[in-house]
Amino acid sequence: MTFFEKTGGQRLEVRWAGPGFDRQLIPNTVLYRGSLDTTAPAVPTGLWAAAGSGVVTLDWADNNDADLAGYHIYRTTISGSTYTRLNTSLLTTSNYTDNTVTNGILYHYRVAAVDSSQNESDKASEASAAPSTTASVILQENTVGFCGVDGTVDSNNAGFTGDGFANGNNAAGSGVNWKVSVPAAGTYTFTWRFANGTTTARPANLLIDGTASVSGISFAGTGAWTTWTTISQAVSLAAGSHTIRLEPTTSNGLANIDYLMIAGAGVVPIACN
Ligand code: GCU
Ligand code: CA
Ligand code: CA
Repeated sequence: MTFFEKTGGQRLEVRWAGPGFDRQLIPNTVLYRGSLDTTAPAVPTGLWAAAGSGVVTLDWADNNDADLAGYHIYRTTISGSTYTRLNTSLLTTSNYTDNTVTNGILYHYRVAAVDSSQNESDKASEASAAPSTTASVILQENTVGFCGVDGTVDSNNAGFTGDGFANGNNAAGSGVNWKVSVPAAGTYTFTWRFANGTTTARPANLLIDGTASVSGISFAGTGAWTTWTTISQAVSLAAGSHTIRLEPTTSNGLANIDYLMIAGAGVVPIACN
């Protein structure tokens, strides 16, 4: 290593030589001007995992770091033990599809952010998912995925499951909201358990992400507010997370809704915004 004065300023040269190769000089084009960035980007947030058959889909919030270069995604089957990196090149979007999974095994994932100086953040806390051929979720009031009713959650009419049932205000448009994610586009079966103690059906429209999906789902009279039955409907969903809203079309409002069950591989309830 040589440090010397040269016309117009100082100069540092690093040279080396070894058996079989000539003397080498590091060119200034590969050196940084100023100080080296050693600050890691922020730890990614909002990681979630949704499992389908033979697939786990991961998504997380975008990092805001100005010098962000991308992300690395890690996986293990033993929570807390060594995580193995899945991606070979840096991921440049905040999502990942893992097709290298076996149904019936629970996988744990963590994600880290990398900046343009190769600094890597700590890994985000893990999200887990078990791919399988079939799955379903039941969305009950007061649990994740139930996003509220234009009315009240009641428990005065027996025979419900969970904490009670959603009693919408008796008015057109007074609905119930839920939120789920699915790992793949396809047809999912929605089943509502409900009671309608009148003799008049209480039809409702299904809105997915605010857009009409199915019109006039009939919720026929069940004879008593304590007599519960189910109605099923096939619904096509794109991959990703979706808001779901059941909205009555008549001034009688909705039937009382005990739960919404959604069947299809990889459906997971999502926290409401
Ligand atoms: C009754 C019943 C409620 C129901 C309401 C209605 O008051 O107890 O649970 O929601 O009728 O007509 O919608
Ligand atoms: Ca009501
Ligand atoms: Ca219920």
